[in-house]
Amino acid sequence: MRVELSFTPHQADEVALRDKTVIAIDVLRASTTIITALHNGAREVIPVTTVESAVKLAGQLAGDVVLLGGERGGRMIQGFSLGNSPAEYSTERVKGKSIVFSSTNGSQVLVNGRYAREMVVCGFVNMRLVVDFLRERPRDFILACAGTNGAFSLEDAVCAGMVVHELVKDTSLEATLSDGALAAESLYRSYGKNVLKLLHSTQHGRHLQDIGFEDDLRLCASVDSIPVLPQLEGNVIRLKRDPGRKDPPSAAAS
Ligand code: MLT
Repeated sequence: MRVELSFTPHQADEVALRDKTVIAIDVLRASTTIITALHNGAREVIPVTTVESAVKLAGQLAGDVVLLGGERGGRMIQGFSLGNSPAEYSTERVKGKSIVFSSTNGSQVLVNGRYAREMVVCGFVNMRLVVDFLRERPRDFILACAGTNGAFSLEDAVCAGMVVHELVKDTSLEATLSDGALAAESLYRSYGKNVLKLLHSTQHGRHLQDIGFEDDLRLCASVDSIPVLPQLEGNVIRLKRDPGRKDPPSAAAS
């Protein structure tokens, strides 16, 4: 099992992720928000990179089951119903809805994965399920971090490092780590003991505190608090399918 890691979406574009198993990470806050939304009953999240394409797509989809969510600069986009705080994505707001979602960095990673063999969404909140998913199918994979505005972000690297740390404990997996994966694991050992403290100290964590979203840091730092595994299917993110369940038709398919 070879473990690769990219610290920014530029290092892992559509071509680089094609046919790979991808773990997409944007701890603050897109991963955590999408995981929360699906856990609270949203049917699906459709990531798009631009505000214009989000508005256009939402217009093409069926009326009151579609919500626009996301942020620019951390704040809700004008005309959208939801921002990017996990707390906004409550059962009351999102149950049964399709959410067209656009965020500054996280959406880019998710869109880059559309030709991946499989892609799951990872945060600290669903760490155990991500690690179990990788243990159950021991094959090469890439940890794709969203970073911040095209640059490295420590919280994503530490989250990726936690995945690596949990996997290398299991020596039967025979994981071969790239230099990026090795570095992330070392960062996890340095900074991962107190995730909330870490999130308070990083560049993007400080920005979120400055603009009034300090409470989100606590939600994003809660390791294993949300037991779901969102997975990209085509251009839509849903919870991993229970084969016995019959879903109503997707808004994205109509
Ligand atoms: C992003 O995708 O850039 C983030 O999720 C930003 C944020 O914290 O809202």
